Amino acid sequence: MRHLLSTRDLGHDEAVAILDVAEDMADVADREVRKLPTLRGKTVVNLFFEDSTRTRISFEAAAKRLSADVINFSAKGSSVSKGESLKDTAQTLAAIGADAVVIRHGASGAPAVLADSGWIDAAIVNAGDGTHEHPTQALLDAFTIRRRIHGSAARAKALDGVSVTIVGDILHSRVARSNVWLLSSLGAAVTLVAPATLLPIGVTEWPASVGYSLDAALAKRPDVVMMLRIQSERMHDAFFPNAHEYSREWGLGDERLRTLAADSIVMHPGPMNRGLEISSGAADSPRSTVLEQVANGVSVRMAVLYLVLSGMKEGQS
Ligand code: NCD
Repeated sequence: MRHLLSTRDLGHDEAVAILDVAEDMADVADREVRKLPTLRGKTVVNLFFEDSTRTRISFEAAAKRLSADVINFSAKGSSVSKGESLKDTAQTLAAIGADAVVIRHGASGAPAVLADSGWIDAAIVNAGDGTHEHPTQALLDAFTIRRRIHGSAARAKALDGVSVTIVGDILHSRVARSNVWLLSSLGAAVTLVAPATLLPIGVTEWPASVGYSLDAALAKRPDVVMMLRIQSERMHDAFFPNAHEYSREWGLGDERLRTLAADSIVMHPGPMNRGLEISSGAADSPRSTVLEQVANGVSVRMAVLYLVLSGMKEGQS
């Protein structure tokens, strides 16, 4: 694997292979010394043009556990978001000797621009681009679901027949998009639920079914309920009447939580708006995988950095 830009172009077998490498990496986390020498001498740059806490520290922890050198470059607040400046930044990082660039950018497609530009020869990993994709988030979500379902026998397995309902701000969510592509290629049945104003044009062509009523979707007793954050920073308009109405219709509150099937799980990529899309009761319940997702994120990002830097052999990607 040369770069990781999206899950849309990951095939079933390649996705399972990445999750299996992540299982190996998770084993390292259980050891007394949680470090591998694998990426010694490699330089990983975290290039973040948008705010982030968990994704950035997760990539940092992952790179460090593999003994890479890590440089954190927070471009927020500077005027580097236009083409020419991205070129200058990329050339600077190339001159520094970056082997991998983990990029988060407000513009959809920025990681692909970097990968195709010729400005820098490093492996590019998309850590979230605009409303487009967030592939490592989807991989860690799939990893978390697979572990909850198959336990220690998860290796080599996909998600055939698993029902996943993704709820909320689909319109602005790169997490939803990456999950729809990945979960469907792993064999899961994905349902999207949102107010009509928060569903993108063309959603009916995605490999997912679409509904507007959360209660109707939960009545089908999905295995997984994934709540999305309302992305207020990307909303320049009113997409729903008010927060109270949103949480009444589309929030996972304590009452709805009680109706879920016995082994079903509740996911959220974070950061959560407690009381809006998810209640504290749901976020902190034993069904919630929120903190497992964070822990698994490190293993999955270790796998991705390992694969792009020392990699799957040509032809396997
Ligand atoms: C997600 C993101 O940034 O897209 N968060 C994350 O990576 N932890 C989801 C979100 O911000 O809502």
